[in-house]
Amino acid sequence: MEAKEIKRVACVGAGVIGYSWALYYSLKKLEVYVYDLTEEKLELAKKRIHDSLLNLMKNDVVDENEISLIEGRIHYTTSIEEAVKEVQFITESGPESYEVKQKMAEEMERYTASDTIIASSTSGLLVSEIAKNAIHPERFIGAHPYNPPHLIPLVELTKGDKTSDEVLECAKAFYQLIDKEPVVLQKEALGFICNRIQMAVYREVCNLVMKGVCSIEDADKAVTYGPGLRWAIMGPSLVFELGGGEGHIDGLMKHLNPSISLWLHDMADFKDFPEEFPEVARKGVEEALKNRPREIGNDDASLAEYRDKMLISLLKLHKKL
Ligand SMILES: NC(=O)c1ccc[n+]([C@@H]2O[C@H](COP(=O)([O-])OP(=O)(O)OC[C@H]3O[C@@H](n4cnc5c(N)ncnc54)[C@H](O)[C@@H]3O)[C@@H](O)[C@H]2O)c1
Repeated sequence: MEAKEIKRVACVGAGVIGYSWALYYSLKKLEVYVYDLTEEKLELAKKRIHDSLLNLMKNDVVDENEISLIEGRIHYTTSIEEAVKEVQFITESGPESYEVKQKMAEEMERYTASDTIIASSTSGLLVSEIAKNAIHPERFIGAHPYNPPHLIPLVELTKGDKTSDEVLECAKAFYQLIDKEPVVLQKEALGFICNRIQMAVYREVCNLVMKGVCSIEDADKAVTYGPGLRWAIMGPSLVFELGGGEGHIDGLMKHLNPSISLWLHDMADFKDFPEEFPEVARKGVEEALKNRPREIGNDDASLAEYRDKMLISLLKLHKKL
């Protein structure tokens, strides 16, 4: 199958991640079939989609007339057969459990064409294991989104031991066609790429705070107004390429290596966060929130609203919205 043939997709499991995928696919003008276990779950997904669209309208991403068209492309059903029988691509966003995902795989395969691609949103389960009992394990891939998938472009693609290269290539091309930014893991790695990078940074935040070097608030400020600004534009290697000037990234690494080596030896390499850190982090966050004006968020709701508004502005700069 060619990526451009994918016109109808199913979202199987319509919770926090599934509803957002469904909204994204419809924004990209695909016909979407949303399946979940009960009418209540589907109603919740419908409400989340509507609320997210109102937020997108408030931020000038969609206009009022488009909302009914976008919602009109999304069809809801509690019949798995109806959801998957005529689609070319399925996004599975069920609970993070082998048992459930294997059962979902069996149900999806029962009613869908043999070449329909089945992409799991799993945050860390192995595709090989999800597709263990599948009739066509070659069409299963992992496609890990970042929350919320209708705003964050990244999708981390993983293969199971029987996934075909053709399926991976088709899925990658499909995501590119709909303006996602797929990255492919050449080997299985726990936590994929981004969670590992995030946790490497956060381990050091914890280390600095626990050693009394800085507060949670200042560590956040340092990231937001320092590397975070650059990382929102390009990755750490391109940032270092520029930092190296005429010597480029390799010059920078060689030049700074003796100094970097001193920092690295002083930095954290623990494998478990200290037991007392969650409490320290919570107090630090409460303190940071007290010092923020409301317009940039000083409680969970206003913080989320501010994050989404800024995220949308950044995505517009990246021409992703
Ligand atoms: N929440 C996140 O930040 C996040 C980020 C990336 C990936 N993920 C992954 O996405 C997947 C879904 O996570 P979520 O946060 O949306 O969970 P969720 O609990 O919000 O949603 C799961 C949905 O699956 C439905 N479901 C349960 N059994 C089902 C079945 N047999 N068939 C169909 N639907 C069924 C539930 O009713 C629910 O609506 C997980 O694999 C998770 O690891 C989550």
